[in-house]
Amino acid sequence: MKLVEKIEKLKKERNAVILAHNYQLPQIQDIADYVGDSLGLSIQAASTGADVIVFCGVHFMAETAKILSPGKTVLLPDEKAGCPMANMITAQQLRSLKVKHPGAAVLSYVNTSAEVKAESDLCCTSANAVKMARDVLGEERDIIFVPDRHLAGYVSSRSGRGFVLWNGWCPTHARILPEDVIREKGLHPEASVIAHPECTQEVRSLADEVASTGGMCRYVKETEAEEIIVATEVGIIHRLRKENPGKAFYPASGLAVCPNMKRTTLEKVFWSLEDMTHEILVSEDIRVRALGSIERMLRAEETQDGAI
Ligand code: 13P
Ligand code: SF4
Repeated sequence: MKLVEKIEKLKKERNAVILAHNYQLPQIQDIADYVGDSLGLSIQAASTGADVIVFCGVHFMAETAKILSPGKTVLLPDEKAGCPMANMITAQQLRSLKVKHPGAAVLSYVNTSAEVKAESDLCCTSANAVKMARDVLGEERDIIFVPDRHLAGYVSSRSGRGFVLWNGWCPTHARILPEDVIREKGLHPEASVIAHPECTQEVRSLADEVASTGGMCRYVKETEAEEIIVATEVGIIHRLRKENPGKAFYPASGLAVCPNMKRTTLEKVFWSLEDMTHEILVSEDIRVRALGSIERMLRAEETQDGAI
C-alpha cells in the first residue's frame, strides 16, 4: 500500500482531520483536508467534528488548535517545527513591558506561545490585525503590539494607530529584499506584486497588494493580472498554481523558505497517526487565559462588537 493510502486508512480509523498551512510542502497540502492561513486554520480547528487534529504547520498553530479544542487530540508530526519569531518574546518579557506601560492593551500576533497569549487582551492574525487594532481596541488605550515589528508597522499605517513595539521579526520574510522585487519586476514588467505584511516596509511599498496568505489566494483569483510576483514563503506557490492554472507565479526570492514549515513530511504524518505523536498539551490555567484573547478575536471576526 502506498504511503498516502496508509495515511488515509489510519485517518479514518482515528477519526482524524489533517490541517495544513499554505507554506507546507506540496505533498502535504495535497493530502490535507483543509489548507489555509492562520485564521482559517483556527476556525477549522474550533469547528471540526474529528477526534484528532494532525496539524501540519508550526508549534504555535497546533497549540492554538489545542486551546480552541481542548477535548481533541492535537498532533504535530515534527516536534521541532517551531516558529523563530514566536520564540522572540516570552511571557516574562511581555509582563515586564506591561509594567512599563500600565493601562496599555496587549495585541498579540497569533505567532506567539500560549503563555504570551495568556498575558494578552486580544489576538490577531495577519488577516485581521488591522481590523483588531482599528475597530476592537478602545481608542483611549495605548496598545502594545508583539512580537512582529514589520506587521506592527503595516497595521499602524493602515489603522492610524501607534503601538508600543517589540523587536521581533520573521527570519524567512527578512530574506526577501527590495532589490529582489525590483529585479523580478524588471524581468516581468506586466506582473502584479503581492507581499505578506511580515515583509519589511521597503518590500511592502513595492507591492500592489499586501495580504495574509489566505488574502493572497483570494486576490490572485480576482485580479486580472496573469503574472504575479510572490513576496512570501515559496510554499504558497503550489496552491496558487493549482488554483490558477492559467497564471504564472514568480517567487520574489528563492531564499524565502521557512525550514520549520518544511520539517513536516508524509512519513512523519504517517508516524504521527500511527503512534499518536507528538501530542500538544497546554496547562488548563494557561489555556483558559489564552483562550480569552483568541475568542475575542474570533467574536470580532463574526460581529463588529464594541471596544474592549
Ligand atoms: P498567515 O498564513 O496567517 O498569513 O501567516 C503566515 C505565517 O506567519 C505563517 O508562519
Ligand atoms: Fe515563523 Fe516566519 Fe516560518 Fe511563519 S514563515 S513559521 S513567521 S519563521
